[in-house]
Amino acid sequence: MSRLMDWINARFPATSIWENHLSKYYVPKNLNFFYFFGSLALLVLVNQILTGIWLTMSYTPTAEGAFASIEYIMRDVAYGSILRLLHSTGASAFFIVIYLHMFRGLLYGSYQKPRELVWVFGMLIYLALMAEAFTGYLLPWGQMSYWGAQVIISLFGAIPLIGGDLAQWIRGDYLVSGITLNRFFALHVVALPIVIVGLVVLHILALREVGSNNPDGIDIKKYKDENGNPLDGIPFHPYYTVKDLLGVVVFLLIFCSVVFFFPEMGGYFLEKANFELANPLKTPEHIAPVWYFTPFYAILRAIPDKLLGVMAMGAAIALLFVLPWLDRSPVKSMRYKGWLSRLWLLLFCASFGTLGVLGVLPPSPGRALLSQVCTFLYFAYFILMPFYTRMGRTKPVPDRVTG
Ligand code: HEM
Repeated sequence: MSRLMDWINARFPATSIWENHLSKYYVPKNLNFFYFFGSLALLVLVNQILTGIWLTMSYTPTAEGAFASIEYIMRDVAYGSILRLLHSTGASAFFIVIYLHMFRGLLYGSYQKPRELVWVFGMLIYLALMAEAFTGYLLPWGQMSYWGAQVIISLFGAIPLIGGDLAQWIRGDYLVSGITLNRFFALHVVALPIVIVGLVVLHILALREVGSNNPDGIDIKKYKDENGNPLDGIPFHPYYTVKDLLGVVVFLLIFCSVVFFFPEMGGYFLEKANFELANPLKTPEHIAPVWYFTPFYAILRAIPDKLLGVMAMGAAIALLFVLPWLDRSPVKSMRYKGWLSRLWLLLFCASFGTLGVLGVLPPSPGRALLSQVCTFLYFAYFILMPFYTRMGRTKPVPDRVTG
């Protein structure tokens, strides 16, 4: 065995990769529950790619054949229904995992210096993931696929001067058609997965350069032992490989329960209207995007003017990119930030969740008002951040991690 390893090491740096990235890579010893979601995001990404490849083998990317080919996969293809439900449930699971992963960032200030680029690469992944989910949703060619795409693409039409041409360029036609389906298929199965995988590599490389933050938000490299290893760090392998494995087992238990027993999740993971073939002549009574887009959809609807609504929706995402430069607090973690920062994080999460619920429901005057209040709070969280993070009285940060 050791001679084999010597042979390989003379030709490929296998042992040094293993040591540098796993067995001698020191990670803070106090990483908690919220640190499961990075490895879980990787797991879901692999699930999406593998199940996606097998679905592509039986899927037909044409307006005439798409809907029927999904039925064929569900009924006739060996293990087809499991593959399809792993993929559709995986899409929602991806966003659940990513939202928790991002929330951890907000909670412990993981976006702050020196991890700004880790955050920015993360946000680029989030954008690419949204595009991936949006293009994928058209593929079953059901009513909601069709009309959802119609509504979202027509938003580009609100842009002055170029809007109409831009929307037509995206569709490749005067209305959503088989041409749109075909190009969305190309983007969904080839272009965007390559972009996402590439960004994930950059995300992890950037994180490896600076090391993981932790729930105390303190630098573990300050205190080292005689070998130069951080006193508050432990090797990633075996400690975190085993811990992450526990996360994977619990996640798979919940994930598989959904796949096997509640794959539609009451119409949230697979919408009822999408079990009906796309019909360009019949608009569904109520069009709503899938749950993970609804907070932004609610912001769009909260503003009566279409162009301003589109701009607000764009700004809601753009502000997340500049978060590292808005937070002026001298400490990273919410454990040591003042009550103002805590209150604003709470208001932000409550407004994001409420907007998510409002985006699913049909509009009414009361709901419109509530979504305006929540939109206001959403933006206030970012715009006021440079002020309340400086004003809030912080608690003293310990020198060493508190466990
Ligand atoms: C496919 C999607 C993604 C994958 C596979 C992924 C993977 C990972 C992994 C493996 C880690 C290290 C383990 C951990 O801290 O949990 C990590 C850390 C991190 N990720 Fe992601 N990530 C993804 C998306 C995102 C997004 C959308 C954001 C935010 C916009 C983000 C922000 C961060 C930050 C700030 C850290 C450092 C956290 C810390 O050290 O406290 N990631 N990511």
